[in-house]
Amino acid sequence: MSTREALDLDALRVADNELWEQGPPHTVFTELRERCPVHWSSGITQTPEDAGFWSVTKAADVLAVSRDWQTYSSAENFLVTDHGVPLELVKGMFIGMDPPMHDRIKSLFQRAFTPKAIAQHEPAIREITAGVLDRLDGRDECDLVLDVAQPVVARVIGSFMGLAPEDDKPWAESINQLLGFGDPVSNPKGIDQLVQEDLPPMYERCMALVTDRRANPTGDMLSILVEAEIDGDTLSDYEIFAGFVLLMAAGNDSTKATYSSTMRALIENPDQLAMLVADPSLAPSAVEEALRMFPAFAHFRRTATKDTELGGCPVKKGDKVAMWYPSSNRDEDVYEEPHRFDVTRNPEHQAFGAGGRHFCLGTALARLELQILVGETVKRFPNLTLAGDPSWVVSQFSSQLRHLPVRLHG
Ligand code: HEM
Repeated sequence: MSTREALDLDALRVADNELWEQGPPHTVFTELRERCPVHWSSGITQTPEDAGFWSVTKAADVLAVSRDWQTYSSAENFLVTDHGVPLELVKGMFIGMDPPMHDRIKSLFQRAFTPKAIAQHEPAIREITAGVLDRLDGRDECDLVLDVAQPVVARVIGSFMGLAPEDDKPWAESINQLLGFGDPVSNPKGIDQLVQEDLPPMYERCMALVTDRRANPTGDMLSILVEAEIDGDTLSDYEIFAGFVLLMAAGNDSTKATYSSTMRALIENPDQLAMLVADPSLAPSAVEEALRMFPAFAHFRRTATKDTELGGCPVKKGDKVAMWYPSSNRDEDVYEEPHRFDVTRNPEHQAFGAGGRHFCLGTALARLELQILVGETVKRFPNLTLAGDPSWVVSQFSSQLRHLPVRLHG
């Protein structure tokens, strides 16, 4: 018999920081799926910006919300937590738009992100990965987040966007701070100061690159943005900046987070690590299982455009609705033993969204990058063990480890 007290559902605020200090609050989500799959968290200040929000925790409901963009709009901000990013910038990103504009801008990029187009980058991704892993030669310990994940993902997305390698680090730091907005370590300045101090220089750095691409287009992502036309008009400088930040943000922390979580799960489940080492063809399945259990983005928000009903709950026009992927990906109605990490499971999941208009653009790139990174790491270091406690970035959005200290040779 469990001695744990049942949650006070009226008082529960799912996005409160204290629930997220050790990553997503799985015990809370498990109870919500059972007792209250669509839950209302009231706001603290009760101002219009903080009026509260619905939490959607079951896979079928997340799918229903994702598919129905007419009822659940993306154009009113994409998180339930305050991220401080100016609304103008959010609305300039196609993740913050509804059709038809969303579809038109997204379609500009789709050709570059098909599995076939992405497969052409495989040799480059392998070379980047090998180069970073080579730097571990002679070392006994490292931090897999800082020493492996960060430099690999920054160079992969950097080369995609057309950045020089020396620009990887400053951009990665800016993006880490932006996505870790509420975390006191990632962003010691606080949200408002971060936005006031750091966004203007990011804009200037981006514009310097844009000026260069206007003069010398190279076919990289930035050139695609600069040359893009909608109804005969090119994008404004600010729209280009928004597209650039969206791709850099989506491509950086997401893959880094998933790699780090995958490696932690493998180290904590040595039988699973041994299976993957013995059979490298399991890498794609292991990656899908990690995407399921540790989705890099914990939630995206929609906003109801009309009064409606979800899971028997009355959703009012203007209500915020959060789709919690760490919960829907462990839904007992979909998965047996949902909390068990099984590299042979090869599951379907909602880590990239549940379908619909906003389904992740970067799935093929993320999958290829993760399969190579995870596969190469375990090939070189089949006896990895933890060298200290992993720590989390405190975030209800960018769900990731800050540090993963390991002993490379057991
Ligand atoms: C493990 C890695 C990744 C995960 C878990 C992930 C997850 C997601 C999720 C959950 C969404 C929102 C889906 C929705 O609202 O329905 C999304 C959207 C998006 N992702 Fe990813 N992503 C990853 C990697 C990438 C990469 C590498 C890129 C590209 C460089 C990328 C680009 C985007 C873009 C542009 C969108 C907006 C799509 C839209 O609004 O139509 N993602 N991603």
